[in-house]
Amino acid sequence: MAKSPIVIIGSQRSEVGLSAGMDVLRNGGSALDAVEAAMRRCEDDVDDHYVGTGGLPNAAGVVELDAAVMIGSSRAFGGVGAVRGFPHPISIARRVLEQLPQHCLLVGEGAELFAAEQGFERAELLTDEAARLFRSSLSPANGIGEVPTTPENERYRATALDLVRRFAPHDGPWGTIDILALDAHGELVVGVSTSGFPWKYPGRVGDSALPGAGLYCDARFGAAACTGRGELTMRVTGARMVVDALAAGADPVESCRRMLVEASSVPDQFSSDVRAVCLTPDGRHGAAACKPGATYSVMTDGDAEPAVLQAAVL
Ligand code: GLY
Repeated sequence: MAKSPIVIIGSQRSEVGLSAGMDVLRNGGSALDAVEAAMRRCEDDVDDHYVGTGGLPNAAGVVELDAAVMIGSSRAFGGVGAVRGFPHPISIARRVLEQLPQHCLLVGEGAELFAAEQGFERAELLTDEAARLFRSSLSPANGIGEVPTTPENERYRATALDLVRRFAPHDGPWGTIDILALDAHGELVVGVSTSGFPWKYPGRVGDSALPGAGLYCDARFGAAACTGRGELTMRVTGARMVVDALAAGADPVESCRRMLVEASSVPDQFSSDVRAVCLTPDGRHGAAACKPGATYSVMTDGDAEPAVLQAAVL
C-alpha cells in the first residue's frame, strides 16, 4: 500500500508545537499522537495568552479552557469545555474520545471529575502576566473603574457584563490554536485548544469544543478548524462548511473563503475576525482570514522547521 505524505499544519502560533508533532509522524506515529504532542507544547507556552497555562481568564478572573479532537476515518470526537485547573485539555479531550465512546463532550465540573478520575494532574493556570493583563482590562482608561477589591463573586457581577460587551483581545498575535495532521497511513486528525475569548462570561463554551463549528474531520475529504469569534462559526457550523466545500471539489483556500463569506453575512455586533485552516487527505492545505495579516504554519517530512505562510484574505 502506498504511504501518504506526512504533514502537520496549524493556525497562527502553532509553530511552537509543530516540530514535536512532526517528530511523532517521522517515527511512524499516528496523526492523533502528533496532534496531541504538538498541542501540549502550545498549551505549555506561558507566553501564549490564548491557550493552556498563561491563557487569559474569564470575567471572574479564572482561566477556563476548551479543547477537542476529531479523527477523520471514524469521525470519532472528544471534547471538553469550561475546564478549570488542568493544563492539558487536549489530552482530556482525547481521553473522552477513547474512554467514553458513548459521549462526545464533557463540560465544567463533569469534565474536571473525569480528568481527575483519569489521573490528570491539577495546576494553577493563571500566570502573573495573565493576571496583570486581566487587571489592566479593569483600568479606569477602559472606563470600567478601579480593580475591585471585593470577593470574586461581587467582582464578577460588577464587571462581567461590561467586559463581555467589550470582547477586545489584547494587542499582539491572538487566537485559538488549531493543529491538523496527516500520517503515513492516510489518517487525518484535527485538534483545537483555547482559553477562549478573554474576559468571557464564566461557563461560556466556544466553537473549539464543538464538532462542525470549531473543527471537523472526514478522512475522505479533509480536516478543517476555525479561530476567532466562535459564536459566528457556531452559527454557520464553520468547520463543517469548509469540509463540505472540499468534498464538493473546491481547493483548500477557496473552501476556507466560502465559509468566511457565510460567517461574514451573519448579523453580529461583536464582529471580530474569523479564520479557517484546512488539510486534505493528499496533503494540500490552505487558510483564509477576514482581515489581513493572519498566518498559518506548515511542516512536511523534508522540513527542518515549520514554514509560516500568509493566510488568504477574504
Ligand atoms: N474560537 C475560539 C473561541 O471563540 O473561543
